[in-house]
Amino acid sequence: MASPGVTQMEEQLEQVEDVVEDVFPALVGTVVISALLLVMFVVRVYCRWAVPCPSNNRLDGKTVVITGSNTGLGKATALELARRGARVILACRDDKKGDAVARNIKKKTKSSTVYSMRLDLASLNSIRQFVEYFNEKESHLHILINNAAYMGPKQTTEDGIERNFGVNYLGHFYLTYLLMDKLKRCAPCRVINVVSDSSLTTKLDLDDLPLSKRYDIYNAYSRSKVAQLIHTVEMHRRFFRDVVLSFAVNPGAANTDLLRNWPGFYGNVLRMISRFFFKIPDDACQTIVYCAVADKIKHDSGRMFQNCTRVNYKDYIRDKDRAEKLWNISLHLCGLDKEIPASQE
Ligand SMILES: NC(=O)c1ccc[n+]([C@@H]2O[C@H](COP(=O)([O-])OP(=O)(O)OC[C@H]3O[C@@H](n4cnc5c(N)ncnc54)[C@H](OP(=O)(O)O)[C@@H]3O)[C@@H](O)[C@H]2O)c1
Repeated sequence: MASPGVTQMEEQLEQVEDVVEDVFPALVGTVVISALLLVMFVVRVYCRWAVPCPSNNRLDGKTVVITGSNTGLGKATALELARRGARVILACRDDKKGDAVARNIKKKTKSSTVYSMRLDLASLNSIRQFVEYFNEKESHLHILINNAAYMGPKQTTEDGIERNFGVNYLGHFYLTYLLMDKLKRCAPCRVINVVSDSSLTTKLDLDDLPLSKRYDIYNAYSRSKVAQLIHTVEMHRRFFRDVVLSFAVNPGAANTDLLRNWPGFYGNVLRMISRFFFKIPDDACQTIVYCAVADKIKHDSGRMFQNCTRVNYKDYIRDKDRAEKLWNISLHLCGLDKEIPASQE
């Protein structure tokens, strides 16, 4: 027979076990939730990490064109470059939105040289009209920032081109082509293509431009970004000797309107993630500003930057034949087939 002391201990042990049984699920729940919150916090800090532009260079007397600058990264970049004294042209497809942003930036920066001009990159005609108007009004162009972008369901441009490719790549190709003489006359000058990290991992299929086999929003967008990255390298090959420097910038994930056209439940989830995890535009635009102002990168033309640092890309992007093919297809789509090959210029 057990002594009274042992029985008492057994009873106490049972009581402890009961308490542990009651508390255990809550304890596990608390640990799991804390771990999840910690992971979310770490991911948020990682995603939002941005290096501020280390250069304080000013752009007094320099003219900058920024496409798609009525919102998001374009608007944040315009504000920063106006603060640095640049004459800033907001090239936007909606006059009212562009004018409102120009007024707002003027007020914030006390600059009197911020203007909005109409440009719809989904229309080759609108691009031509923009360039005509720009050439009439502006005598210089020192920095062109190809920033505007479409990401969304399958659509075509006014000229029948798949919209991601048409707006993000081809529209900018045509715009840059038409502005090249002015850029050359203002050399040294810069062209900055805003790309994304998807441009480093996606392949460019030029044999199915309308994406008739399969359409996927992310792939269609990524394809246009690879084309922009290849375009950056090709511009360097063709125009470096004219001291037109070309840079690609990956701003990283930013909380902007870019996901606005993504439909359905998945779109809502992505927008929620974007609001909580992604960088604010003022932080995400820092590398674009860096490529516009920094002296240090003069010898890095044709390269890609991220967090104000040069990043490498694969040989795929550097492939001359692919770049030449893309260039010729682009000339054809823009009705510029009579272009003289670079080697014969
Ligand atoms: N946000 C990100 O996470 C992220 C990540 C990597 C790279 N990027 C790149 O960063 C750049 C800026 O994007 P964002 O994030 O700032 O997106 P955003 O807030 O959606 O801004 C895109 C801009 O492009 C304009 N645009 C769209 N279609 C146009 C057209 N047909 N003609 C002229 N302008 C047009 C939009 O004008 P409306 O307002 O009139 O539509 C808007 O001003 C893009 O090149 C994007 O690919 C963004």
